[in-house]
Amino acid sequence: MAYKVVIIGCGRVSVKHLKAISKLTDLELAAVADTNEDSANRLLSSVKGFAGTKIYSDYKVAIEEVKPDITAVTVPSGLHYQIATFAMEHGSNLLLEKPMTMTSAQSRELYELSRKTGKKIAMGHIYRYLPIVGLVRDDINIGKFGKVTHGSIYVRWGHGEDYYSSAAWRGTWKSDGGAMMNQTIHAIDLLVWLMGSEPVQAQAMLAKRLRNIEAEDLGMAVLRLENGALASVEGTTATLDSRHEAEFSVFCENGSITMGLSSGKPHMNILLKREDGKVKKLNGYYMRKQYKEGGLFSYKCALNPHLGIYSDLAKSLTEGKEPVADAYAGFSSVDTLMGIYKSALLREPVALPLKEDFSSEMMQGFFENTENT
Ligand SMILES: NC(=O)c1ccc[n+]([C@@H]2O[C@H](COP(=O)([O-])OP(=O)(O)OC[C@H]3O[C@@H](n4cnc5c(N)ncnc54)[C@H](O)[C@@H]3O)[C@@H](O)[C@H]2O)c1
Repeated sequence: MAYKVVIIGCGRVSVKHLKAISKLTDLELAAVADTNEDSANRLLSSVKGFAGTKIYSDYKVAIEEVKPDITAVTVPSGLHYQIATFAMEHGSNLLLEKPMTMTSAQSRELYELSRKTGKKIAMGHIYRYLPIVGLVRDDINIGKFGKVTHGSIYVRWGHGEDYYSSAAWRGTWKSDGGAMMNQTIHAIDLLVWLMGSEPVQAQAMLAKRLRNIEAEDLGMAVLRLENGALASVEGTTATLDSRHEAEFSVFCENGSITMGLSSGKPHMNILLKREDGKVKKLNGYYMRKQYKEGGLFSYKCALNPHLGIYSDLAKSLTEGKEPVADAYAGFSSVDTLMGIYKSALLREPVALPLKEDFSSEMMQGFFENTENT
């Protein structure tokens, strides 16, 4: 029996969802919902075989009538909380796009609701589903590379004014946040996950260099993790809009891991010091291991990581396991992001997890204060 999916929100990212669903036999698209019927029709005609799928304008009616096993929440980020809560309270599991919500307290609530109801939340944290990443993470965690000293990520995901003006919610503090909250959050999630320890402190600065938006188009932060390791984060959309680059590195006592993407092309360099003192490159070893464990499918996920997210979620429902990017990942990454924002606002380090709620909306007026620019 296939799991019934309803997609709520038929914009840019929903096409990746639909393509993934179309490739998996254990999922079936039951309906889509969007307040704009044209968007729903555009989505359904973007992938072969979905013409005639039921369209709803009200997500509540869609969930009540269809009773989906999985609700895919692909609406503007400021609406995630209300739709995710409604869907879970009506018995549905979620594929919830990042960021989980726009406040630390709401993310904690969804994480707790998932635990209370037993409904799974798979987060749209795409980087966890790229090939080799999970294998490297397991090896870091069993100590193959020795003590983790530090890590770094950059996300230089150029977006011009046309991207920001394509929808009113983009780049607003209330509904989106800026380059850190939208483009960089899943890289932060990945880095923390790989380094195997939770953030306990954040110190950050934000800037608005080029884009005409409310929130930041550039952010830099340093995180201290519970195990003492430091992690540096650079996230921006203020680069050439034809260039999309992201890279992470984890440095350890006996090795280092660097993986990244530059305008669609992957690169990696995984080094390990052997017992004889020689440094060996493990790229080939991990590529072969990934092929052995996941076959071609795992490499297909590099082209559309949502394929990996859906496949893993279906497996979670069948086997009763937690998804790779689970509800806790959603909460923890939003909490860290709110810590980064709060630190920029207060111009001081902030302890994590946050003791009091912080929302990105509290950043209103940040760039109007000349001390921040
Ligand atoms: N994981 C990823 O790689 C990734 C990539 C892009 C976007 N995202 C996330 O996905 C979400 C959507 O982003 P997007 O770029 O697709 O946005 P978008 O603006 O292109 O699409 C959003 C859609 O939601 C619809 N919508 C708005 N309010 C609604 C409501 N109440 N009920 C039903 N539909 C409603 C809009 O009409 C629109 O069609 C955001 O949270 C974003 O951060 C994730």
